[in-house]
Amino acid sequence: MLFCSPPSPPIGIFDSGVGGLSVAKALRATNPTAPLLYVADSGHAPYGERDVSHVVNRSLRITDFLLSQQAAMVVVACNTATAAAIEAMRQHYPSLPLVGVEPGVKPAAQRSANKRVGVMATTGTLNSPRFQSLVQRFAVDCWVLPVACAGLAAAIEEGDAGHSRVQELLDTYCTLLTQAEVDTVVLGCTHYPFVAQDIAARLGPHVTLLDTANAVAEQAARLHRQLCTTADRPLGPHACAPELTLMSTGDVEVLARLAKQHLAYEQAVRRIDP
Ligand code: DGL
Repeated sequence: MLFCSPPSPPIGIFDSGVGGLSVAKALRATNPTAPLLYVADSGHAPYGERDVSHVVNRSLRITDFLLSQQAAMVVVACNTATAAAIEAMRQHYPSLPLVGVEPGVKPAAQRSANKRVGVMATTGTLNSPRFQSLVQRFAVDCWVLPVACAGLAAAIEEGDAGHSRVQELLDTYCTLLTQAEVDTVVLGCTHYPFVAQDIAARLGPHVTLLDTANAVAEQAARLHRQLCTTADRPLGPHACAPELTLMSTGDVEVLARLAKQHLAYEQAVRRIDP
C-alpha cells in the first residue's frame, strides 16, 4: 500500500523561461516539502521585449493552467510579468494568493555607500510604472542607472549555444555600470543570477550584486504555511506526485539541462501548450 505524506497544496510558479528556476531553487531551500509546479513559457518568450498585452495574456493563460493542475497559490517568478500583469491577475483571481518579484531597489538603496545604484533588467520592467514607483518610493536619495539588457535573457535561455552572445552583451552592459561608478547592482531579471559570476568578474569585488530570490521565497513559504494550516483540502492528484514538476511551452531540453545543473532535477520535463 502506498502512503502519501500529509497533503500539502502545490505552489504554482512561472516565468517566461528558465529564469524562475533561480526563485524555485530558493523556494526549495526555504520550503523543501512544498510541491512545486513550474511552467517555463519559453515558447512565448522573451517577455521583456514584448508589449504589455502579450505578457498579461500569457500570465492569465498560465495561471489558468496552474489552477487546473491544483495549484493553491502562484509565484510570478518574473520581474517583467510582475510589472505588466500582477494587477490584472489580482483582479482576475481575487482569492488566489499571489507573490510577485520586483527589482530589489529598496535594499540596494539602503546598502549603497556612494548612493549610486545600477539596475539590470528588461526593457519591459524598466519602462513600467511599477519600477518608476519603486525608485520614487525607495531610492530618492540615490542616483539610479537603469540598464535595459536587451537580448540577455534570450541568450541565457540558449544555454551553451548562447555563451558567447552572453559574454558580448555583458561586456557592453557592465561597461555602462563601471563607467557610472555604481557600488551596488540589482539583478532585476530572474535569468541574471545564472550569470552572476560573469557579471561580478566584470564589475569587480567592490560592487555588490543583489537579487530578490530569497526574499520572494520566504514570502511564498510564509503564505504556503498559512494555506497548509487553514486548508481543509482533500488529497489532490499532486499529493503523492514528485515535489518538483517542470513544464515548458518551448524547448524542454534547455529547462531540463539547467534544472539538472542547479536543482539536481533528473526527471523529464513535460511539454505543455496552454
Ligand atoms: N525572467 C524575466 C524577468 O525576470 C524576463 C525574461 C524575458 O525577457 O523574458 O524579467
